[in-house]
Amino acid sequence: MKYKAQGVSIGEDQQRQWPLVRRGYLKIGSPHIWMGRNILPEIASFSVDTKLDMTKSSYEKRVERAQRLANPKPWWTKLPFFSSPTPRLAAVDDSARQKEIETRLAKWYEHSPPDRLSPAEIEDFSNAWSWEELAKHRDERKSSYAERPIETTFQGMLFPMIRKVMQLDPNLKSMLAIGCRYAYDLHLIGKEYPALHLSGVDLHVGLDRLNEEFPEITIHQGYALEMLERGEIGADICTFVSTATCFKPREMDAYFTALAKQSKYVILNELVDQLPSGRVPNPGTIEDSVPSLYKGSSDQTVHFIHNYKASAERAGFKVLHHRAYKPDWTDVYRLEMVATTVR
Ligand SMILES: C[S@@+](CC[C@H](N)C(=O)[O-])C[C@H]1O[C@@H](n2cnc3c(N)ncnc32)[C@H](O)[C@@H]1O
Repeated sequence: MKYKAQGVSIGEDQQRQWPLVRRGYLKIGSPHIWMGRNILPEIASFSVDTKLDMTKSSYEKRVERAQRLANPKPWWTKLPFFSSPTPRLAAVDDSARQKEIETRLAKWYEHSPPDRLSPAEIEDFSNAWSWEELAKHRDERKSSYAERPIETTFQGMLFPMIRKVMQLDPNLKSMLAIGCRYAYDLHLIGKEYPALHLSGVDLHVGLDRLNEEFPEITIHQGYALEMLERGEIGADICTFVSTATCFKPREMDAYFTALAKQSKYVILNELVDQLPSGRVPNPGTIEDSVPSLYKGSSDQTVHFIHNYKASAERAGFKVLHHRAYKPDWTDVYRLEMVATTVR
């Protein structure tokens, strides 16, 4: 199934008109034209788009312009006197939220090393959820997976990338999901690729019980970074779904450094959160990781939008696929990436 990226993809009718685009030589996105270097042209149409402003797609901007033209505002609304209160109120709210993020971050760094979790944090995070909470999460996941196609889940967004990588390199033997929690997605991948050795790692105590219905998956409970560094876990393909946003910036670098030593491919799909300003940054162009607090979520720990591409490249990976976009079945932007150490 194909999902079109808003403002990033081209329509199928355009693909028919543009044979070079169809064959993957040329990528057209709005409003830019660039030479494509993706290996995965069949996954919608995607791009290493460094110019894209994801705050609003060009489609949304066109619709807004058409609406403005169709319903022109009375001339007096353009006077500063009438129009100023709303922007001013919004700005106050933005800066309060931004300050909240910075305060939380500063507090976090007071007791946490920059490139990993401290032993106390590992202990805390491992026991953050009771067994009842984990089991409730699993049951909710089960009913949500029963209601919708796996492709319309964040976990399922990995599948086209995994299939493409398996097609490129059918000799890949193992896959590790980092931050797997309830590993139903791994279980489905195992059905497609029965020869693939599957494993998952997560901090949660009780992880093996949570996944006991999947005996084919080797479950590791612990802090993935240090387990990777010690060589206790690893695989040809390592994946992250909604997990790498939990890592601090230098911790993200440490993951890629550890992964570059032993895995052939890294595949990830992570949230690109909206910032207090309302903007959604493009992960491919930010100079350093941007901290954020999930809007409307009870999770008030600071998460990050990383420049995954730059971090992977620093560690020696070659990025094969990189796309930040909003699938049409969700209202959040996601970043997907495939990177390899295979030359
Ligand atoms: C938002 S959940 C996503 C779980 C799963 N990937 C999914 O999509 O359903 C993030 C998971 O990553 C785990 N996690 C975060 N940092 C981790 C680390 N450094 N090592 C192992 N697990 C980690 C958390 O415990 C949590 O279960």
